Amino acid sequence: MSVNSNGLLYFEHLQPPPSDRKPTAQNEEAASDSSKEKQEDLGLWQEKFGSFLDIKAHGPTSIGMDFSLHGYDHVYGIPQHTETLLLKNTSDGDAYRLYNLDIFGHKIHDKIGIYGSVPLLLAHKPNRTSGIFWLNSSETLVDISTKAVAEHTPSRSASETAKQRAVPLTDVRWMSESGIIDVFLLMGPSAFDVFKQFAQLTGTQALPPLFSLGYHQCRWNYEDEQDVKAVDAGFDAHDIPYDVIWLDIEHTDGKRYFTWDKKKFQNPRKMQEHLRKKKRKLVVIVDPHIKVDPSYPLYAQAKEKGYFVKDRNGQDFEGICWPGSSCYLDFTNPEVRKWYSDQFAFKTYKASTNILFVWNDMNEPSVFKGAELTMQKDAVHYNNWEHRDVHNLYGFYQQMATAEGLIRRSSGKERPFVLTRSFFAGSQKYGAVWTGDNTAEWSYLKISIPMLLTINMVGISFCGADVGGFIGDPEPELLVRWYQAGAYQPFFRGHSNMESKRREPWLFGEKNTQIIRRAIRERYVLLPYLYTLFYRAHTAAEPVMRSLWIEFPGKVETFDVENEYMLGNALLVHPVTEKEAKTVTVLFPGPEEIWYDFRKFKRVEDAGTVKIPVTLENIPVFQRGGTVIPLKTSAGKSTEWMIDISYELHVALDAEACSIGELYVDDGHSFKYLHKKQFLHRKFSFNKNILSSSCVDESGQYHTTCVVERVIILGFGKQPTFVTASAKDGKKKEVVFTYDMKTSALTLENLALSVDADWEICIS
Ligand code: NOJ
Repeated sequence: MSVNSNGLLYFEHLQPPPSDRKPTAQNEEAASDSSKEKQEDLGLWQEKFGSFLDIKAHGPTSIGMDFSLHGYDHVYGIPQHTETLLLKNTSDGDAYRLYNLDIFGHKIHDKIGIYGSVPLLLAHKPNRTSGIFWLNSSETLVDISTKAVAEHTPSRSASETAKQRAVPLTDVRWMSESGIIDVFLLMGPSAFDVFKQFAQLTGTQALPPLFSLGYHQCRWNYEDEQDVKAVDAGFDAHDIPYDVIWLDIEHTDGKRYFTWDKKKFQNPRKMQEHLRKKKRKLVVIVDPHIKVDPSYPLYAQAKEKGYFVKDRNGQDFEGICWPGSSCYLDFTNPEVRKWYSDQFAFKTYKASTNILFVWNDMNEPSVFKGAELTMQKDAVHYNNWEHRDVHNLYGFYQQMATAEGLIRRSSGKERPFVLTRSFFAGSQKYGAVWTGDNTAEWSYLKISIPMLLTINMVGISFCGADVGGFIGDPEPELLVRWYQAGAYQPFFRGHSNMESKRREPWLFGEKNTQIIRRAIRERYVLLPYLYTLFYRAHTAAEPVMRSLWIEFPGKVETFDVENEYMLGNALLVHPVTEKEAKTVTVLFPGPEEIWYDFRKFKRVEDAGTVKIPVTLENIPVFQRGGTVIPLKTSAGKSTEWMIDISYELHVALDAEACSIGELYVDDGHSFKYLHKKQFLHRKFSFNKNILSSSCVDESGQYHTTCVVERVIILGFGKQPTFVTASAKDGKKKEVVFTYDMKTSALTLENLALSVDADWEICIS
């Protein structure tokens, strides 16, 4: 990697405006006059944007730098854009923009920034990954240009001729509106090394409470307490698992967050007690704008304490959002964050209970009628930072304060769950993100895959897209396909807009209900694996959802694949994103890899690109040979109902008839795994016809009565004659087994082997 090889390093000093350019009332008048001379008259200290005047307190600051990535022609990262996985050349002048914006019904294939930004770019060539982390939170543009250049290899001896060959080169140019040049070159050499290096700088994914990996049912809006109860009951009536029901902005008293609409939610505490009995949770929305209303205590207090972002004249910045005229809390101020987090205390947030968790929306921040629907750049934050300097951090800090609040209300005991729309590098430490207002169209289902893969690549594993598409009404087939995809993505929430028709999973006929039920149940059964992946993300910065090239860094054919992905290292998922699809074309990286159908256990015969027939029933999912996946033997009404359900292991053998996998277990909700080391981290390995369970991390202990009930070994060569299981105390018992000649799957039943103990299964 070389820096500034194109000589594009530049910076401008902060400078006070020349006295004749000081912002004055006349200048503001001049700015509102559209004539060209007047515009020029404003100089570089002021700029007009539509009808908005931006006064640059420190002059026309700007910084930039270029980086050349030798040998690389695949670059990724810098979310969030509705774009392909592989970053495109921007030689058409259309740079990738990192500027958090609320764009309702955003277009697909657009390099304009939406909602969140992470200024991390990854470059990959066979078996080598590097990263550039441009730590800057102002509006940023990234230009990318990939070309082939001639590389000259001089002759080493008189008999050898000098060689010339074409090698790829990618130039990346970063430009930011303000700030300093603070850039980190992450040298890998593997993608997993880059993830770790980035995590050293920005932190790892917070370990989510287990319930939050279940299915979430959201809508703008679930109207009132009766509606909430009816939807909750609907899941039981239709035997569909779910963990969380969500309340959007209409649950509040006139969009005053931390309050309840007194008519529709007369007894919110009782409603939560009802949900608690059902072992379910509630998420409510808490946006960052505060209604201007002196009788609203939150507003009055914040006003009095001077906690709002200021306009350039030192007054509280006022903009329009859901409640009408609103002020915006200055989350960049640690004191404001502390005060805000105190608002989540049970005593302060009336009728909130410990099953209530939080959704931070509109935190780009969204300012209706503002320039590009956001805050003016010359608004002023804590310590006199202009909004232009910290724009992309606004949502990050709100989520930080919210997560802190939820931890504090539990006296530091319980893990928070906070979903945010806006994010920045490091947001992974505070919870989950989603991709905002997508549309109920096939193309949005399709683009959600590269969008989520990109977010995962930059450290934020816990992400998802609104299942079904937020805007509009999905046809039933699209909804079904979206559930099937969402079930294999990290954050799994159905959500719909106010104008959309009701969309609970049982409203589309018996057949579709049954298919959706199956998809959600598959998710629940898979939770031990998913939770283990999140533990890896939390402790080792490994992304949960991975583009193929991350797992197969030497296989060039995987480098631009964005219609399928790996969930962890073991599952290959290929969502169906075409209407009425009869087949999908799956790329099975190979040839040394072995793949098994995840549901039918049969080995996939050919490697490479294979046409796989599909029906509406499910989407193609395959297990990679050499892996062990822990599952639950059945699904329950919610994660909490499943605590005692036993485990099942899917042991998929590789070419050497070996495999290896892990299981992480803890109480699923507290910090005891961290402070008291109450967890289990187990390893399962299959070698020479022996499957053994052993401890990965002796420092952790957690007692569970749960057992491994069943083991299915995929790709087992022949019918065994005898199978025994022995615990470490030496007691041996014979195991009941069935062998399926057609699939070569060997099923071992009624095992009752403790999850928290060492044991061995020997097959002869
Ligand atoms: C915009 C969010 O993106 C959407 O999910 C939410 O329903 C609405 N705001 C209303 O709060």
